[in-house]
Amino acid sequence: MRRARDCAGAIRKGNRMSEEQLKTELVDAAGIAQLDVDALVTIAHEGVETSDPWRKELERTGEFTGKLNEIAIQFSPAGHKARRVVLVGGGKADKFTQDEVRKVAGTATRALKAKGVKTVALVLDSLEPGFAAAAVEGAILGDWEPDRHKSKKEEKHLEKFLIAVKDPKALQASFERGRWLAESQNLTRELVNEPPNLLTPLVLAARAKKMAEANGLECEILDEERMRVLGMGSLLGVSMGSAQPPALIVLRYRPATPASGDHLGLVGKGVTFDTGGISIKPAEGMEKMKSDMAGGAAAIGAMQAIARLKPSIAVTAFIPAVENMPSDRAQRPGDIVTSMSGKTIEVLNTDAEGRLILNDAITYAKQQGCTHLVDAATLTGAVVVALGFVNVGVFSNDEEFQAKLLKAAKAAGEKMWPLPLDEEYRELLKSPYADIANIGGRWGGAISAAMFLKEFAGETPWVHLDIAGTALLEQTRPFLANGATGVAVRTFVNLAVSW
Ligand code: BES
Ligand code: ZN
Ligand code: ZN
Repeated sequence: MRRARDCAGAIRKGNRMSEEQLKTELVDAAGIAQLDVDALVTIAHEGVETSDPWRKELERTGEFTGKLNEIAIQFSPAGHKARRVVLVGGGKADKFTQDEVRKVAGTATRALKAKGVKTVALVLDSLEPGFAAAAVEGAILGDWEPDRHKSKKEEKHLEKFLIAVKDPKALQASFERGRWLAESQNLTRELVNEPPNLLTPLVLAARAKKMAEANGLECEILDEERMRVLGMGSLLGVSMGSAQPPALIVLRYRPATPASGDHLGLVGKGVTFDTGGISIKPAEGMEKMKSDMAGGAAAIGAMQAIARLKPSIAVTAFIPAVENMPSDRAQRPGDIVTSMSGKTIEVLNTDAEGRLILNDAITYAKQQGCTHLVDAATLTGAVVVALGFVNVGVFSNDEEFQAKLLKAAKAAGEKMWPLPLDEEYRELLKSPYADIANIGGRWGGAISAAMFLKEFAGETPWVHLDIAGTALLEQTRPFLANGATGVAVRTFVNLAVSW
């Protein structure tokens, strides 16, 4: 019997929510001298000859060289209505890509808002559509703070961010795409940062439903009974120890005119808190396990952007949401569960729970007609050992599909790196008692975890993203607040939009 209690604090008022994000606008650069803003920002590159006496002086004194993310501020500039003119370093001109634009816009946003600036205009010389998108992304992502639950907001916010370009009409569509993408990524960040007492599986489901209703997506929440009927013994085994009931969140997007019969499934790990269960984790750092639903939150954020950008491929998201708790009703090491696929699993370690909920979600996604699957999961500490906090670990059973995903990731500016899945690794998962064991021993832990999922993806082209090292940022960067990053959202969306 479950004794789930309502969390009274789950719905609070007075906080800056994802619905009210930084206001942005694309304007004509012809009128920049007349722009009534607190700060007019221009990007200056390293090693470029300048005739501007102010910049010459800054370079002479070494105060500004144009290195990426450097900042210099001039007050009451002559010939401008703006209160300040700001130089922000763009690094080397020939290395200035979308990723640098995103960082520069984020850095300018964060540096200026900290000074109490409210209105900013960034001058963008390039007519490259990707640059306009990246600039607005950088501003919206940079302005965002994880301060939802602070009674007194210490962090300041901008009120308005303008991007001044030579041809606003030509760039409007990409500007809007960037805005939607960043707002959706912030929705993911907000969900991931939510504390585990306030974001239980049912609350996550309610938040997904609210997003779906606001954006015209179909939303279905499968409850425990429904999952039992479907035979999801592997997922339900993880949920057994918790007083919080589980939910399988399903979000559906259908294009008006599909370009093909392809159907993309996005599967996201939604463990709202991972104590490890009976194989309990050490106390130190356990609070970070509130982010063990970052893959699920990325799928929810991506679906919001997909609903608005309307790609011509069908996309369905599946988010198995559970809490992994030790208790008198919890799953034990040694338990054997039967998954929806029919395969039996020996649970040797209850802390390897991600793969136990994902396999049933993958089987269900295939049953629902998905032709291609991508999952995102904070799956293993081992991927952090392998790739640190920089790259997402990528695994696949289909080279072509993996190449497609890596291309989408690169275009999105999300760093991802492929790791192998040779058949030899399957041996690690042998169990004397069941069809497969849920852990593969000490070495190659990210690979054996992915190998476990591969077993359930079967013949369906599938890519697995292990985001354990990249979902959380421990220290604030010049362009991004610490906490949840919203990684995988932009890749998911790019994959669908460029399909
Ligand atoms: N949620 C963790 C993985 C994780 C670790 C995420 C660090 C973010 C940061 C996952 O459920 C887990 O506990 N994995 C175990 C697997 C092991 C028992 C085979 C791990 O990585 O230690
Ligand atoms: Zn775990
Ligand atoms: Zn976990």
